[in-house]
Parts: sequence; structure tokens; C-alpha cells
Amino acid sequence: MTFLPDEFLLTLLEKNKIADEFRNFGLSLNPCDRGFSCNCPFHSETGNSCIIYPDTHNFYCSGCGAGGDVITFLMKKQEISYNEAVQELALRCGLQVPGISAEEAGRIQNRRERCYEINRETANFYYQNLLKGSDRRGLAYFRERQLTPQTIQKYGLGYAPDDWHQLYQYLSRKGFSDEELLLANVCRRSEKGNIYDNFRNRVIFPIVDMHHHVIGFGGRVLDDSKPKYLNTSDTPVFDKGRNLFSLHFAGQHIPCTLILAEGYMDVIALHQAGFPNAVATLGTAITPQQARLMRQYADKVIISYDNDSAGQNATNKAIQHFRDVGLPAEILHIDGDAKDPDEYIRKFGAERFRLLLKHAQNVTDFQIDRCRNGLDLHTDAGEVMYLRRVAQVISEIHHEKEREIYIRRIAEELEIRPEVLKQQTNIFRNRRKKNNSNQTFHNAEILFHTRDEINPEAQTHLAESKNEELLLGCLIWLPEQFETIRNQVRPEDFVTDFHKRIYVALCEKIPVSTWLIPSLLGNAFSAEEMGRITKIFIYYRDKVNIQTVSDCIANLHSQKTKMADASNMSNDDLLQVIANKKKNIRLQY
Ligand code: CTP
Ligand code: MN
Repeated sequence: MTFLPDEFLLTLLEKNKIADEFRNFGLSLNPCDRGFSCNCPFHSETGNSCIIYPDTHNFYCSGCGAGGDVITFLMKKQEISYNEAVQELALRCGLQVPGISAEEAGRIQNRRERCYEINRETANFYYQNLLKGSDRRGLAYFRERQLTPQTIQKYGLGYAPDDWHQLYQYLSRKGFSDEELLLANVCRRSEKGNIYDNFRNRVIFPIVDMHHHVIGFGGRVLDDSKPKYLNTSDTPVFDKGRNLFSLHFAGQHIPCTLILAEGYMDVIALHQAGFPNAVATLGTAITPQQARLMRQYADKVIISYDNDSAGQNATNKAIQHFRDVGLPAEILHIDGDAKDPDEYIRKFGAERFRLLLKHAQNVTDFQIDRCRNGLDLHTDAGEVMYLRRVAQVISEIHHEKEREIYIRRIAEELEIRPEVLKQQTNIFRNRRKKNNSNQTFHNAEILFHTRDEINPEAQTHLAESKNEELLLGCLIWLPEQFETIRNQVRPEDFVTDFHKRIYVALCEKIPVSTWLIPSLLGNAFSAEEMGRITKIFIYYRDKVNIQTVSDCIANLHSQKTKMADASNMSNDDLLQVIANKKKNIRLQY
């Protein structure tokens, strides 16, 4: 791993103060013991769970685990890479990133800026062409779909002419080179080497980011031809998996409830009908990054996908992503004879849609409803299959009370004794618990209803993981113990891979650093991982001494031996792990 030089990083952090960056994003900071507290910018809350530590240039949120430095903050806020964030901060304060020549840095920055300019000009070209071009088909299309002139203007909708070169000629005259136009993906090059417009004879939906830059386009055909939609490919400023259509409108008030729809037209129709809090993905299934992005703005999401089986399957996938990032989700059902929110509102009006929103379903109800798919409940076989599927869903509910409620309800529905369903549910629960050690991790996931994505092994090796954390805390806060520790601990002694990686990075960094802060490890870890590293860093400050060092080295070795013996984890062990974990969460953080 090559790290950026400490001196450069420390200057960068000094010149781009973490607290200022928070303020620039409109967060209000309250002075507290260690520095400042504020509402977390990465999950919606009002409890001031996020603490800023100006002396070590860090922040950490005890609510959602987000943390790091000003670089991490930008990476997460703008969904950009480590290098891009460093570059942006360096540019702001006139520093030069080592290893990247000023020329190269300028070139990268310039490419992005040219892309933004091309997109702005292109959006304008399509918009003017929609309103004033001689071909009226685009405008007629939007009129037919009942969009008002205000909506068209608000979204800057456009029309790409039925021609191969109009946009190319327009942008060339404005001074953009062929290479730039290809890079921004507004034009393409044919096999023969001719450049032509990417979008032709399509209505255009510009995609705008939170800074109001146009970053890409979706284009829809006017008839039934294929492909129905074309989207900009990824460019220096556009990444389909990290942006959401209309989030710049939807995320204006925090915290909000977001409505997640499938299509551009759904979002626009919703906006026009008085629901500006709707967003859509950009022609792909929802990604974990998009779920995290939504959590920055919303305290709840209502999934309003299409009323077909593809839409329902997509809903099921989206539920998993929202569960992983801890964003509560509900599911809206389009009833009546309409396939999506756009059609529903046109047929039945905004007020009836508001009622649908109000009656959005919780996740378990949705999953139970899906159990009926393909079954004839009037037959015994159908009913038995339904019972088994429902039992499976119920067996995954964490709280006993809640399980009981569902068991009673379904028993009533099927006119069976609750004990029958309960028994079936327990079979699934036990079967899951009985699985071998390979499955243990999966079981823990189900029982916890969450996953530790950053350090997955910690879930089933809690004691080991805690001890490893402590050892890392010692390394960070007792640098004079470095040689002692390194002489006795090999990377292979770590049970969890995540902690092992931190250990290796620290061993590389400590001998050459005068002052160790998490930022110095930044480019070796993801923004999510930096949160966890920051937690360890903050938590063990003033909590370690020489005695701790020898204790946890001893533990590390004895645990490793025990691990080798016990490749299987019994039920009771698993339950113990879980009980401990809960206790730890409550006591420590
Ligand atoms: N989509 C895509 N490419 C396709 C089809 C769909 O990228 N060939 C994406 C688009 O982002 C589209 C979304 O999937 O907005 C939903 O698709 P669909 O439901 O087919 O379209 P609608 O947006 O409902 O369009 P319309 O109402 O105009 O038919
Ligand atoms: Mn539609």
C-alpha cells in the first residue's frame, strides 16, 4: 500500500477543517466536551449523535457508525473516490497532491468541468428544441402525457431531434472537441470513425445532482420501438449506481419520507401531483450506495414500484438493501387498473394516491402476501404450501411478540389452531439454528436482522474481535509499545480479516509517523471502513495501558488456539454470542 505523505495529509486536514466542512453543508454545530456535536449528516435524526473532534480532525456518529475525516466526509457526501476527494480538497487550498503532477491534476479537473459544461449545453439544446424546434412531436408527446409547461420547465425536459448530427454540430461550434463529446457520452463514434448524436428522436430527461449540475440524460422513444429508454453511460461525472433521479428536489427538507418509483415518468407525474419527495434509480436496480444515499435524507422510504411481477421482485430486492443500511421501508400497492404511479394518478387523481401512501404496507405483510403467489388456497396442497412459506417468513421475525401476533393472525385466516403454525415456525427456527458453522454466520444475520458488513467475522467471533479491537487501540494510543506488540503478534494471529488489515497498515505506518491519526490510513480503507477505524480510535483513547497490552496479546494467542479446536458453534454458543453482543452495544457505545 502506498500512503500519501503524512506532511501533505496533515496540511490538507489543517487547511480544510472538518468543522468548517460540516458548516458549509448547512449543519449547525453545538460546542461539547471534545469539540462539537450535531445531527448526523449520514442518517436522518434529531439527536445530535455525531461528534466532531477538531484536534484529531475526525467525526464519528454513534447512531449509524459513519465516521472518518474531511476526506471521508466528501467521499460519502458526494459519492466520490478517495483520490477525487483528496484532489478536490487540495485544489481548494492550493496544495499539490504528491505523485500527481499539477498538469495531471488540472487535466482531471478540467475533464470533469468540460463534461458538466457539455451536459449543460446539451440540456439547453434539447430543451430549446422541444419548445421551439420545427419538429413538434416531442412537445406533443409530453402534452399527451399531461405534463404542464411548468413541469417541463422545472425538469428541463427536452427533445433530441430526429437527426444524426444536429447536437454534434451545435456543440462543435461551441468549441468542444470530438474527444470531449465522446467522453461525456452525448455523441458516439461509428465503426467507420464518424461521430454521431447518441440520442435521436427521443424525449429527454436530464439527470441533475445535488449541486444542480446536469450529469447525464435518459431518453425515451415516442412510440413502442425498442429500446424504450437510452441512458448516458458512465462518464467522469456520471455513475448510474450512485445517483438518483430528482433527489435534488426530493431531498430538500431533512428528514423526509422518500418515495422510490421505478421510472422517470413516475417521479415527474408524482412531483406534478404534489409529491415532490419521489426519486427513481437510473435504469438499473437499486444499489447499496443508492440506499445509503437515501438514508442521508430520509427517515423512511415508501417503495412504489410497478404493479407487475418484475416490480414486485425488484421491491423484494430493494427491501434487503434498505434493511442493510437501516432505513425503514414500507411498500405501496397500486390498486385498480393501473400499472405504475404515473398511470394511477392520471386515472384516479392525487388524492387517491395520497390514500395509497397512507396505507403503505409494512415489510413483513408484504412478504407474507408474496407467499400466496402461484398457489390456489382453495386446495389443501395450496394451503399447506402457503402455511410453510408463511412460517418461514414469520420465523425470521426477531421479536417474539411480533411473531405471536402474526401467528395468531394467519391462524385465524386459515382457520387453523395457532399451535400448528407456531410449531411449523419453530421447525424453521430450529433448523436454522442447527446448521453447521459455515451457516452460523448466516444464522446470526437472520437473528440479528442486520449484517456487520464491515467486519463480518465479528458477528460470530465476538470475543476475539473485541480483543483484537483492544489490541489495535493499544497500538494507536501506546506507540511506545509498538515493538513489543509487533514482536509477539503476527497478522495471521488475527481472526477477523478487517482487523488484520488495520494491523498490517498500522505496522507499516507507525514506524514512520510522528503522530498517528486515522487519516493517515485513509487510502487503504473504504469510507465505510474509515467509520469503524475512527470508532476504535476514539473509543480507546485514555482506555489502554501497558497491562492491557500484555493481557490482550495473551488473549489473542489463547483464542486462536481455541478457535482451532472448535470449528463448530453450537446453538447455545450462538445465543450466547448474541446476548453478549446486545449487552455490548448497550454498555459501550
Ligand atoms: N429503463 C431503461 N431502459 C429500458 C427500459 C426501462 O433504462 N429499456 C428504465 C428507465 O429509467 C425507466 C424505468 O426503467 O424510467 C422504468 O421503466 P418502465 O416502467 O418501462 O418505463 P416508465 O418510466 O414507466 O415509462 P413509460 O411510462 O413512459 O412507459
Ligand atoms: Mn410508466
